Amino acid sequence: MLHALRLILSIAAVSIAGLAAASIAGNPVRGQQLFNRCSGCHSVQGENKSGPPLNGVVGREAAVVEGYRYSPALMNAGLTWTEDALDTYLAGPTRAVRGTRMTVSVSREQDRADIIAYLKSLGGQ
Ligand code: HEC
Repeated sequence: MLHALRLILSIAAVSIAGLAAASIAGNPVRGQQLFNRCSGCHSVQGENKSGPPLNGVVGREAAVVEGYRYSPALMNAGLTWTEDALDTYLAGPTRAVRGTRMTVSVSREQDRADIIAYLKSLGGQ
């Protein structure tokens, strides 16, 4: 009995450690609301506005939407939009990619995680 309890406790400890190691979890529903800050410039239906569309952006190479005129800085950045790369870019776009034309940053880590979770939920075009 005691043995079983110890086993359960050690499994719990391992899973808690695993959670702490993972990056902060995002809430896509909240992310959709926060996307109001982005939707003036970004569509999620594939069309270009003053910024490129963001549906399918998670996992996509940077600066590859056809017909959108990106800054040379973003085209030459050699980035792929992993969740980590998006997080760094959104925290400070001009710091992450000097010369990018996107200047809007999202300072709260939870807000970034929520927005990224929302973008991820949109899938491809
Ligand atoms: C005022 C307009 C504006 C707002 C608001 C804005 N962006 Fe942008 N965004 C841009 C522009 C312009 C670019 C293209 C940057 C370049 O070419 O250097 C861009 C590029 C991007 C890219 C790279 C896309 C690609 O195809 O490589 C991502 C990701 C992005 N924005 C996310 C966001 C998110 C998330 C928000 C909301 C928090 C947001 N942007 C708000 C104008 C904006």
